[in-house]
Amino acid sequence: MSSGNLQPIQGMSDLSAPEIRLWQEIEGKARRILSLYGYEEIRTPVLEYTSVFTRSIGDATDIVQKEMYTFEDRGGRQISLRPEGTASVMRYAAGLGPEAEGLRLYYIGPMFRCERPQAGRKRQFHQLGSEMIGQASPAADVETLALQMHLLSSWGLEGCSVEINTRGLPEDRQAVAEGLAAALQPHREALCEDCRRRFDANILRILDCKKDACKKIADGLPPVTDFMSEASRQYLDEVKRLLDLLNIPVRLNPRLVRGLDYYVHTVWEITHGALGAQNAIAGGGRYRMEMDGRTIDGVGFAMGLERVVSALQAALQGQAPVAGERPVWLVSMGQKAFEENMVLAQTLRLRGLSCGFNLTPGSMKSQMRAANRAQAAQAIIRGDREIESGAFLLKNMADGVQQELDMPALLNTLLDSRIDPAHTPAKAETTNPAGSP
Ligand code: HAM
Repeated sequence: MSSGNLQPIQGMSDLSAPEIRLWQEIEGKARRILSLYGYEEIRTPVLEYTSVFTRSIGDATDIVQKEMYTFEDRGGRQISLRPEGTASVMRYAAGLGPEAEGLRLYYIGPMFRCERPQAGRKRQFHQLGSEMIGQASPAADVETLALQMHLLSSWGLEGCSVEINTRGLPEDRQAVAEGLAAALQPHREALCEDCRRRFDANILRILDCKKDACKKIADGLPPVTDFMSEASRQYLDEVKRLLDLLNIPVRLNPRLVRGLDYYVHTVWEITHGALGAQNAIAGGGRYRMEMDGRTIDGVGFAMGLERVVSALQAALQGQAPVAGERPVWLVSMGQKAFEENMVLAQTLRLRGLSCGFNLTPGSMKSQMRAANRAQAAQAIIRGDREIESGAFLLKNMADGVQQELDMPALLNTLLDSRIDPAHTPAKAETTNPAGSP
């Protein structure tokens, strides 16, 4: 195997400690908060029939046209690695029929898009997303945004900006396309090559072109709401009113389009200043999809976890990373002590204490070296003398202080030293004679 084969595929990464601890902390907090809002986890397959994505995300979108990993399986079926989670969840919900109404589901997992890799843009990345099925009301959209803001603040991620817009009802699409075409016609030749193609295929996407010339033209256009029905405008007004009620600050961006065709009514994007060019930390909105002849509505969002982690790392700069649990290391002098230590390791782990030992013990020096490598907080040293007397020599690795303890005292000391002060009830509470309610 050449050394090139030891690297993951371009645009994909191995995730390992210490970074993975931050991921676990983020995911743990998210699961707790999602459950406060009534969401349950769903795990859908990473491979789906390609048609699950093409029809819902849209044939003319960048994702479907250029970014999906699509291939034939051994049975000649067209399948794709999921580029996002919404379509799969809707496939699942459509299969449930009317039972799905009101379901709240969330997912955490890898997504795949064969985009040009750059900082913040991966070919395998991870999304944390939620979908609420049915419930077509502005209140559902606003509750979803409130959940997202709650997640961001629980992670300590300050400084996010939220932009919202509306895609209107599907019935408005024709009028929006015609209105934009009329407004853009005089500028058609000045548009970039991609946008000249979009003019006929997907005119709305011209609004979020990143090229300066196109941006300037888009800035001069009337807002898309001008071409929409009264019902669509009222829906947006109600969303804005409820966002105000919950004190969620957003900026209305009439150019916000989102790169997926399934959206109706509210769409939004959340960005973070620490992220550079790929600054979208999350996107979401209300949508309507056709799945096997069934129409299914929902509202949801997805956050890019790599980007959440990068923004958090920038915010945490200078602060200690999340520490792993520091084990106690069992050091054995002789075969008898080694076997007794194997038994002791089981006892400690069953009590919830992290511990380790050299599986082939060797010298005292080599075992202490292993203890340091494992960043052990303490070592328990046992030889024939300790085994015979039932004593345990406990050594604090930081200051070298040793104490000889019996089994109950050893357990108490280890358990005490593992208590996280942040989670210990204050003394006044525990000794309060009135007791707490
Ligand atoms: P999206 O905007 O395509 O929306 O992706 C959501 C988030 O995933 C982005 O804001 C970004 O943080 C992250 N992301 C996307 N592509 C990449 C990439 N190549 N590398 C790293 N991170 C990336 C959706 O996927 C919709 N399904 C969201 C949704 C759920 N709408 C309704 N429900």
